Parts: sequence; C-alpha cells; structure tokens
Amino acid sequence: MTEFTFDAPTVIRAKRDGFRLTDEAIDWVIDAYTHGGVADEQMSALLMAIFLRGMDRGEISRWTTAMIASGEKLDFSDLRRDGRRVPTVDKHSTGGVGDKITIPLVAVIAACGAAVPQAAGRGLGHTGGTLDKLESIPGFTAEITKTQVRQQLLEIGAAIFAAGELAPADRKIYALRDVTGTVESLPLIASSVMSKKLAEGADALVLDVKVGRGAFLKTEAESRELAATMVELGLAQGVPTRAVLTDMDIPLGRAVGNAIEVAESLEVLAGGGPDDVVELTIRLAVEMLDLAGIDGRDPAQTLRDGTAMDRFRALVAAQGGDVHAQLPIGSHSETVLAPRGGTMGDINAMAMGLTVWRLGAGRAHPGERVQSGAGVRIHRRPGEPVSAGEPLFTLYTDNPQRLPAAMGELDGSWSVVDTCPPAGSIPGSLRSCPPVRPLIIDRIG
Ligand code: URA
Repeated sequence: MTEFTFDAPTVIRAKRDGFRLTDEAIDWVIDAYTHGGVADEQMSALLMAIFLRGMDRGEISRWTTAMIASGEKLDFSDLRRDGRRVPTVDKHSTGGVGDKITIPLVAVIAACGAAVPQAAGRGLGHTGGTLDKLESIPGFTAEITKTQVRQQLLEIGAAIFAAGELAPADRKIYALRDVTGTVESLPLIASSVMSKKLAEGADALVLDVKVGRGAFLKTEAESRELAATMVELGLAQGVPTRAVLTDMDIPLGRAVGNAIEVAESLEVLAGGGPDDVVELTIRLAVEMLDLAGIDGRDPAQTLRDGTAMDRFRALVAAQGGDVHAQLPIGSHSETVLAPRGGTMGDINAMAMGLTVWRLGAGRAHPGERVQSGAGVRIHRRPGEPVSAGEPLFTLYTDNPQRLPAAMGELDGSWSVVDTCPPAGSIPGSLRSCPPVRPLIIDRIG
C-alpha cells in the first residue's frame, strides 16, 4: 500500500477554501514545520487561512496535541519537599496591556507552599510578554535547564523560563504570528496557550482570559468561547483547568512596558501598588491555591509580610538577575499634560499597547531586540481627579525618532471629563470613568 504524503500547498488550499483539516494533515504540517519541512512563508499563509476560516473544536484539539507532541513534556509528579508531595499549579493570560500579574502572582503562590513551573512567552502583537519584562532585570535569564527548573521548584517554589524544548512548534508559530497579523484568532490563541501549558506538566491550570478593547478577542462572547475551549482542552488531558474572565478595556495598573512593569510589580510585592493589579493577583492566587488543594493560606498576607517578595528575589537571583541593580528607563521622554481640569475619563488599552509597542517595547521583525526601558507611566487613571496642566502620561524610549508615532497612537485614546457619567451610559468606544465591566467578570470551570 502506498502511503499518502502531504504537501504544504494542498493543506493551505484546503483551509483557504473552508474545509476542515484532517487529523493526519494537522499532524503532518505541525511536525514538518517544526523540523523545517514547511517554510515560514507557507506556515504564514496557513495561519492566515486559519485566521480567516477558523477551526472547529476537533481541529483545535488535534492542533494542540500535535504542538505538544512537537517537543518534550515535563513531569513533576514526583516533586517532594520534606517527604511531602509539592502540588504544582500555573496560570497563563491570553494577553493584555500592563498585565504584569505573573510576576507578583508566581511569588505569592510559592510563598503559600505550591510550586509554579511557568513557561512564559515574549511580547505578542500589542501586548507585553513576561520574558521581555523579566529580561529587563540586569543578568536575568529565562534560558534555564530542566534540572534547574526542578531545583528551583523545590528550593524556591517557582521558575519562570522560556518554553525551550516544550512545544517548539508553538515557539516558531508564536514568533510568526507576532509579525504576520495572525494573532487575534481563537484557535491559534487556544492552541498556543494550551500546548505550552500542558507540556509544562503542572498539576492544575488557571487561565486569565481577557475581555475588551485591549484583548485579542474583543467581545465577551468570543472571550467566553475561548475560555470554554481552553478549559475543555485542559480537562481532556486530565488537567484541572479553570478560566477567569477579566476586563481589559483599560490598561492594568499605572505602568505599561518592560522594566517599568517590573518596577510596578515590585511595588505590589512590597505591599503597595495599584488596586487593580493587587485585586487580580489575589483573585488568581485564590483560584490557583484552590485547584492546588492548599487551604488556610491568605495570599494577601504574603504581600504584606514580605514572604512573596523574598520568593521573587530568590527566583531572580537563581536565574542570574541582580535584584539590587537599577532597572533601565528610556533615555528620552515626552509627557502629555492635562488640557483642562476634571476627572480622567477613559484610557483605551489597545491604543496604549500600540503606543508602547511603537516606543520599542515590542517587535516588528522576528527575533528583534526589544527596549527594556521603553514604556508609558500613567499618572492619572480613569476616575481620578485631574488639574489643568498636570502630567497625565510620560512616554519613555531610547530612540527619540519613535516618539512622534507613539504620541500619534495615544492621541484621541483618552479623555478628561467633567464628572464621571454613570457606568454603561456612554455608547461607543469612549467609556465611562468607572469601567463598564467589573475587573473580574466571571469564572468558567
Ligand atoms: N499567550 C500565548 O501564549 N499565546 C497566544 O496566542 C496569546 C497569549
């Protein structure tokens, strides 16, 4: 019997013309792309076809399984400390603006007694990535061995690392999506997140699924579908998985960028920081501890008593970072002043993400180096009083030629109003000062 062989043009045409991809075609294309048998331009075309045509749940499940099978799977089922099994749990966000939650959260969970093996990603589209943020700490490396990951889980309770040999198909596809306009696709987001997370071997997973203007999927209905799809993928592989839907209409916190977000995370770890960052950190921690079976620990206490900060410092030091080094900040800046007094009305998270990307915090070409010091400080958040002439935003970059385009992106994306209108009363894209939705919208799973 002759074995049927696939080729990239046939697979691309099938999806382009709206057909389902068979299990065999999916297995072949993921394996061939991982090993260089499908070119970047062919995979780009297929990703665009998937972006436009979508995939059903069966295709998403097979695509995810094939991405997991493209590399190794970690196993921490024998992780023991003082003779007792250490539960492992992780969280992943679908991508937001100012979303630095992983940094304090990982430390909080470690301080509460579980272990977090976090395979993290780089910036994607207009959103930041945990690795780009942490690499702004002088000396920090995310390229650590599996042996080091295990040792850190035992000694510190956390490791944050580049996925490396976990789901290498995702590493390649993720980098390609970032520069080919194919990020905002439910099947591609679900398979990207879940392939890394299921390969990483945590006992349980919590997913932070963003909703709103700064999210990849804008409507609550799409985000709910994404959450349900990912929860189903996790449960199908026997991993307890829960999703929390959270608002991403306005940026999280007062800092958006790389080093500037690490600095804000340190404020949270020191018991301060913006309310929304603290609220989301604690809520996700509660969900993670619940799934990990850890009772009687108050995650908020670990921020107050410094135990989470101790874990974060230990993690950074173990991964080569200098916890005492000054964090970089862009050498050029421009500040936007309030044109009038009143109340900060709105800040569009999408526009803010693009502003920071234009300042140099993200990539326009595969593998490009990001600027650690690029970012925006938000001086006034929606609902806060504003005096005429005071600073509202400060933009930082090492490259002053980037400032005009970044200022152009920010222009028209925020407002100062007389008084906050009642929530939900403003139609269209300009939102009220108290956000239309609560920060934590719902839980799925
Ligand atoms: N995070 C990921 O790992 N992948 C995506 O596609 C989006 C967010």
